[in-house]
Amino acid sequence: MGQKQPGDTNLTARHPELHAGPVSTDIYWKPELYELELERIFKKTWHYVGREEQLLSAGEFFVKELPTFDFSIIVVRGRDKKVRAFMNACPHRGNQVELAECGKRSAFTCKFHAWKYDLEGRLASVPDEGGFPLLDKSEVSLKELHCESWQGFLFVNIQDRPNQTLKEYVGEQGADLDGYPFSSGTSRFQFSGVVKTNWKFLVDSFCETYHVPFLHSRSIRHTMAGPDNPHGRAVDVRLKGDHRTTSVWASLDYDPQPVQKLAANAAATSITSAVATTQELPKGLNQTRAENWAIDVTVFFPGLVCVINPGMYFTHQMWPLGPDRTKWEMTGYLRPATNAAERFGQEHAIAELRDAVLEDANTLERMTSNIATGLIKEFHFHDHELSLRYQHHTVCKYLGL
Ligand code: FES
Ligand SMILES: [Fe+2]
Repeated sequence: MGQKQPGDTNLTARHPELHAGPVSTDIYWKPELYELELERIFKKTWHYVGREEQLLSAGEFFVKELPTFDFSIIVVRGRDKKVRAFMNACPHRGNQVELAECGKRSAFTCKFHAWKYDLEGRLASVPDEGGFPLLDKSEVSLKELHCESWQGFLFVNIQDRPNQTLKEYVGEQGADLDGYPFSSGTSRFQFSGVVKTNWKFLVDSFCETYHVPFLHSRSIRHTMAGPDNPHGRAVDVRLKGDHRTTSVWASLDYDPQPVQKLAANAAATSITSAVATTQELPKGLNQTRAENWAIDVTVFFPGLVCVINPGMYFTHQMWPLGPDRTKWEMTGYLRPATNAAERFGQEHAIAELRDAVLEDANTLERMTSNIATGLIKEFHFHDHELSLRYQHHTVCKYLGL
C-alpha cells in the first residue's frame, strides 16, 4: 500500500467566516468571560453523564458529579425501563439522597430522616407523616433533570426548558456517527484529575497533531507523523454546527517494536501501530476514506471530546471549575476481551494511551500561568489547528464578542 501525502494546507480557507490571522487570548483567562461562558454556554448545553450499558435493568443507578455546577445527580432506570436523572438532593431539607457510586435499588432512602423515593423520583413514604399536616406526598418528588440518549450516550440538560433537544444538539455531527458499535464497548477504564488550566486548553490539546513530532517524540511520533508527514498534518478537519472532527493521519510504513505489533494485533486497537480494519465505518468516521488514517477526534461543543477508531473509543470530558482550573475525566470503552491475548493487547493499548495523554497534559499548566498574566495578547493558529480556531470562534459567538 502506498503512502498518501497528508491533507492540504487550505483547511481554514474553506470557511470564509474564519479569518486566518492571530486571535485574542482574552477568553482563555479573563474571569468575567469565564462567568459569561458558564451562563451562556455550560448552563445551556447538554452534558454527557454516562452510558446506557451502565443501567441494564430496572433499579440500576449511578451517581454522577457535575463538577461545574457543584452538585450530583442520580441516573436510574425506572420500572418502566425509562432512564431518568434526578438532582441528588432530598426535598425535605436538601441532604444528598444517594451516597453510593452505583448499584441497584428498589427505592432511594435519604440517610438523614429516611424520606423514601421510588425509582421514578416520587416521594413514597415519610416517617411520622402526621407531623406534616400540610404535606401532600403526591406533590413532592426528587427534582428531575432533562435526560436524553443519543447512541447510548446519556446526556442531561440543567435548564428547566432546554432550548434544543439532544438530537438537535448533536445535529449533523451525531447523525454522521450513527452506526458505530458504541454499545459493544462495555469494558471500560477511567483516568481523571483536576488540572490547573482553562477548559479550552484541555480540549485543544487533543484536537491538533502539529505537536506530535515534538511533544510525543517518545510515543506516537512515528505513527501519527513520520518521514511522509514530518509536520504531523491532519488528514482532514470538518466543522459541523458548533462541533468539529479532526481525522488523524497514520503511517502505514512504520514498523513498531515486536511487542507493540503483537499487542496491536491481539487487541485490534493501538495508537502506536496502524491497525487495518474491515469494519464498515459510519459516514462521519474517516470521512475522506483516507488510507492513512489512525483515529478521529470529534468534539461535541463545548467540552466532550470523543476519540474513535475501529477497535476502541474513548471520551475526554472537561468540566470547568474556574478560568484556570478544570476537572478532566477520561473514559475508555473496549469490547470485552475474549481471551488472554486480547486482554494483554488491550492493557498494552491503555498503557500507551495513558502515556501519550500525560504528555498532552504536560504543557497545560505552564501555558495557563503565562496566559493568565494578560501579557500575551494573541495566539497564532496553524492551518491544521483549525479545530482550535473554530472553538475560539464558537466561544466568541456565544459570548457576543
Ligand atoms: S433531608 Fe432527607 S429526609 Fe431529611
Ligand atoms: Fe497529543
